[in-house]
Amino acid sequence: MKKSKKVKKSNSWKIKQHRDQFFKKSKTLGYRSRASFKLIELNQKFKFIKKDSSLLDLGSSPGGWSQIVSGIITNGKILSIDTKFMEPIKNVKFFNCDIFDQNTHYKVQSFFKEKIDVIISDMAADTTGNKSLDSIRTNQLCSEALNMSLKILKPKGVFVSKLFTGDDFIEVKDSAKLLFKEVNFFKPKSSRNESKETYIHCKFLKTL
Ligand SMILES: C[S@@+](CC[C@H](N)C(=O)[O-])C[C@H]1O[C@@H](n2cnc3c(N)ncnc32)[C@H](O)[C@@H]1O
Repeated sequence: MKKSKKVKKSNSWKIKQHRDQFFKKSKTLGYRSRASFKLIELNQKFKFIKKDSSLLDLGSSPGGWSQIVSGIITNGKILSIDTKFMEPIKNVKFFNCDIFDQNTHYKVQSFFKEKIDVIISDMAADTTGNKSLDSIRTNQLCSEALNMSLKILKPKGVFVSKLFTGDDFIEVKDSAKLLFKEVNFFKPKSSRNESKETYIHCKFLKTL
């Protein structure tokens, strides 16, 4: 077998192993997706979800993150939104809508009625097979979530979102730095090494 074929084969074996490990674990624990582990790691690192938090989960379907949040927030308010349907989760209100629709922003604001503590976003565009395009489209979702945070986060609020270290990564990072005093990046172990996926954690809105 040629050397490049061998490398490809061993890489796809590693990816499969990684996927299977978290897939099995999520089935055992009753989580709806492997993504749950990413939020667990993010919250262990930055400790931003409290029992009385008001929290918006963007791109929530099938519900792995919302399940974790519902287990922590017992005295707060949780709203999840996605263009895809999500089966109900205890203490979580779900809106089937699109972040790019201006009505969604109004709906979110009227649900919470006041500024909120946390926005989490795991939104990802459907894959097209063109990695560069997929990364740009997912980062546009992150930018739109950042726009929303300006309208609905409390001054000390926290914003956490998926983004890709692709072509427009620096632009998204720079706009986050214009909006927030603290901006950090963290790649959970449960996110594949080979993937360009990372997570941005922002805190303290800069007052205008
Ligand atoms: C990686 S999945 C989220 C997994 C979820 N965090 C979990 O733990 O189960 C990405 C989600 O982003 C959603 N999404 C993509 N574009 C969106 C948009 N414009 N508005 C709202 N949700 C969107 C997709 O429908 C998809 O369900």
